[in-house]
Amino acid sequence: MSLALLARPAGLPPPWPDPQSVTLRPATMRDAEACGRVLHAAQRDLASRHGVEPAFASAAVAAARAAGWLADPAFFAVVAEHAGEVVGVGFLQERDEIRGIGPTAVAPRHQMAGIGRRLLRALLDRAEGAAGARLVQDAAAMPAAALHAALGFEVKAPLLLLEGCPRDPAEPGEGVRPMRPEDVTACDALHAAAHGVGRAQEIRHVLEAGAPLVLERRNRIAAYLTAPEDWQANHGAAETAADLIALLAGAARRGQGRLGLLVPSRQSDVLRWCLQAGMRAVKPMVLLARGSYRVPARCWVPSGLY
Ligand SMILES: CC(C)(COP(=O)(O)OP(=O)(O)OC[C@H]1O[C@@H](n2cnc3c(N)ncnc32)[C@H](O)[C@@H]1OP(=O)(O)O)[C@@H](O)C(=O)NCCC(=O)NCCS
Repeated sequence: MSLALLARPAGLPPPWPDPQSVTLRPATMRDAEACGRVLHAAQRDLASRHGVEPAFASAAVAAARAAGWLADPAFFAVVAEHAGEVVGVGFLQERDEIRGIGPTAVAPRHQMAGIGRRLLRALLDRAEGAAGARLVQDAAAMPAAALHAALGFEVKAPLLLLEGCPRDPAEPGEGVRPMRPEDVTACDALHAAAHGVGRAQEIRHVLEAGAPLVLERRNRIAAYLTAPEDWQANHGAAETAADLIALLAGAARRGQGRLGLLVPSRQSDVLRWCLQAGMRAVKPMVLLARGSYRVPARCWVPSGLY
């Protein structure tokens, strides 16, 4: 849809709410269902316009995700309300020195009225003083791209969302095992070697709540992934592309079912292997950053946040 179709027509009474009648407040657990509705509706609308898959399969799936973030003290969340109804939502993950922004969403019939900008400003105010803020957005999401650029974010890396069960008889994926508490320091060091910043709190958190995997080679942790089946929660780092490929092959062989991950498109060895091993490209996305950012020096995989 062109901007002309999205823009408010001159001289006509706006169907949008008066910005003054929209209020922002911190979200609570009671907002989970409403947040789920808004997240799902905004993503479904975006996906249908661009012929890609929405990030949430249903409003119930989105509400379950929202409930998890709202219950997590490492997340700050804000909602926009109009006439007693939640019409917008934004989340901020505060676990480590880089803040992860998202998801943010505004109900389709309330978009283009400045609500998204107010939500993002509230999240950025809260992130003030952090080393930086990052987010991942659909590459084709024009309003998001315009808004993020206006608020100081820069596009840093093209990504491709890949899903499926990679099969490569030549890559046995040996040395892959569940992450243990004593691996956290090594995994955090791998992240720091790639990005110049650590991510220990998030790695520790997934160790308690999920099923992260590592690749151990010659008594060293050569790669890790925090949630290989769930691209939104999954992030990782590896010493080399070959290490990341071995970890992916091992993860698939461990019978963990379908893998889902965001592959930085410039990591062409990893991308080519995933595609040749039968994974499906779902949609292009991009990583954006505001504040401190270093071009990754090693192989990396971002989550749905960064
Ligand atoms: C991104 C999103 C939250 C923005 O919400 P919103 O309330 O519509 O945003 P706003 O009205 O505050 O701002 C939109 C801006 O984009 C601009 N814009 C929209 N489409 C544009 C285009 N094609 N070209 C240039 N600018 C465009 C608008 O003019 C507006 O800018 P302005 O504030 O300078 O006038 C909303 O579009 C949404 O929910 N999208 C689906 C989910 C998503 O992509 N989330 C972000 C990543 S998680």
